Amino acid sequence: MFHTTFYVRRLHSLVGLLALGMVLFEHIFTNSMALGGAPALNGALAMMELIPHPIFLGLEIGAIAAPLLFHAIYGIYICLQAKNNPERYGYVRNWQFALQRWTAWFLVVFLVWHIFYLRIFTKGIAGVPISYELLQNYFVANPVYAVLYILGMFAAIFHFCNGITTFCMTWGIAKGPRVQNVISALSMGLCAVLCLVTLAFMGSYFVM
Ligand code: HEM
Repeated sequence: MFHTTFYVRRLHSLVGLLALGMVLFEHIFTNSMALGGAPALNGALAMMELIPHPIFLGLEIGAIAAPLLFHAIYGIYICLQAKNNPERYGYVRNWQFALQRWTAWFLVVFLVWHIFYLRIFTKGIAGVPISYELLQNYFVANPVYAVLYILGMFAAIFHFCNGITTFCMTWGIAKGPRVQNVISALSMGLCAVLCLVTLAFMGSYFVM
């Protein structure tokens, strides 16, 4: 029993960093094409459409949905066991621990909404292709949704970047407090950069 928990936890950690990390980077990269306007984003989306449909669907299920479902379900189990106490101790690490859990809860709700509305309902059921124009109309007509999307992206970025530090601790890569602080500072730097890129591409829908 002890060993099962140990290995499942390691798998949860690996899936979060590698599989979901790649999805996050791909997402930020593709969406940042919006900075180049409709031709750039629609061109990037059209490139993805060149992948034959069955292979694309297989990738969506095998490389995104399955890892995400596993990480989310086991993550909820971990969250339900976690004792958050940032007010009591106030250390940065305690706050990061609590924020890792709070962003996880927020991501559960945000990702269900995002995936159901855009991928399953709009593209899958209604058959409307995702394009720059569709996203721009959606956000400009509903600025509250744009704010929720920015918060959802910030939550995913923080959760991933803080996860780089906890990953290094889980796997014994960062053993002492000094090296842990360096990794934490670097990953928070990455977090700031990715959040700024997100603000830039989301903001571009309102100025172009
Ligand atoms: C969908 C909802 C999600 C839930 C409920 C969730 C839950 C969790 C929890 C509870 C942890 C801490 C594990 C621990 O302390 O042992 C964690 C770690 C992590 N998560 Fe998530 N997560 C979610 C989505 C994501 C996403 C979208 C990404 C990537 C963008 C991600 C990447 C990571 C990484 C890299 C770690 C660090 C692994 C480690 O500490 O070894 N997670 N997640």
